[in-house]
Amino acid sequence: LSLIELVKNMPKAELHIHIEGSLEPELIFALAQRNGVELNYPSIEALRAAYAFTNLQSFLDIYYAGASVLLTEQDFYDMTRAYLERAHADNILHTELFFDPQTHTARGVEFGVVVNGIQRALRDAHAEWGMTGGLIMCFLRHLSEEEAFLTLEQALPYREHILGIGLDSSERGHPPEKFARVFARCKELGFHLVAHAGEEGPPAYIETALDLLQVERIDHGVRCTDDPVLMQRLALQAIPLTVCPLSNIKLCVFETMAQHNILTLLDAGLVVTVNSDDPAYFGGYMNDNLVALVKALPVQRHHARQLARNSFNAAFIDHNLKQKYL
Ligand code: ADE
Ligand code: ZN
Repeated sequence: LSLIELVKNMPKAELHIHIEGSLEPELIFALAQRNGVELNYPSIEALRAAYAFTNLQSFLDIYYAGASVLLTEQDFYDMTRAYLERAHADNILHTELFFDPQTHTARGVEFGVVVNGIQRALRDAHAEWGMTGGLIMCFLRHLSEEEAFLTLEQALPYREHILGIGLDSSERGHPPEKFARVFARCKELGFHLVAHAGEEGPPAYIETALDLLQVERIDHGVRCTDDPVLMQRLALQAIPLTVCPLSNIKLCVFETMAQHNILTLLDAGLVVTVNSDDPAYFGGYMNDNLVALVKALPVQRHHARQLARNSFNAAFIDHNLKQKYL
């Protein structure tokens, strides 16, 4: 088996996928038509051509515009179903989906519409393929802590469907400490905690996410290599990093894949995982990310096996399920 075949076929978990980032241009146009929503792009091709990003914010502006076509529970179901079919094809056995409720509730879409649509697709995937998964609700960090508290209130009736809490959107200028109190409340309520940190922002945001938000995993975290002491801590404490290679290239975190630091992180013993982030916008799903790494970097078989093991070890699943997957 070639290394490319090995990474494609190996069973794996995905832990960093924004479900709104799986919305392909074709589905954006289909939902816009179904819902009578006006788009600022004349065609699917014109929309796809706008996917030339220079940094995180240039992506987020288009990503939030794309999500504006989502109105009904069926829309959220169809989007999630399409992602889960792709995930199943990539031999993903377990997937933890981020969703951004504030992007939808701000447009008058009810919280329950969002969760019920996504949840129904996860339930079907479990029934059909035995795929397991869960939802991680993200607070938008460019909004206030007060708005995050309001969102948490809206989530409480659906808490059985929510595995954890995350923090995403514009990183620079919105440090983790802005959300310290709402994360403390989420911890009291028993949610798992994660946060985006060290994607574009400094390594100090990784430290404050750990110390002040008490997160269990760091999303991205690739900028930790700027701080050797922090890197050593991440290795010693076995804090998983959910790394997203194609995302990092598209958002210019690294200039080329050959310059990506993922093997440095793996070889230093960090619990690194590979993920797709926003696959419809960044040019690939899980296996596309793994193949891109294999093509650009001296990935060895032991690296590939470690990435798969890490994905299950870092997942929010109980001991029995972990044993089954490992
Ligand atoms: N929302 C969706 N994708 C994101 C990313 N890569 N970073 C921050 N917020 C996001
Ligand atoms: Zn992300």
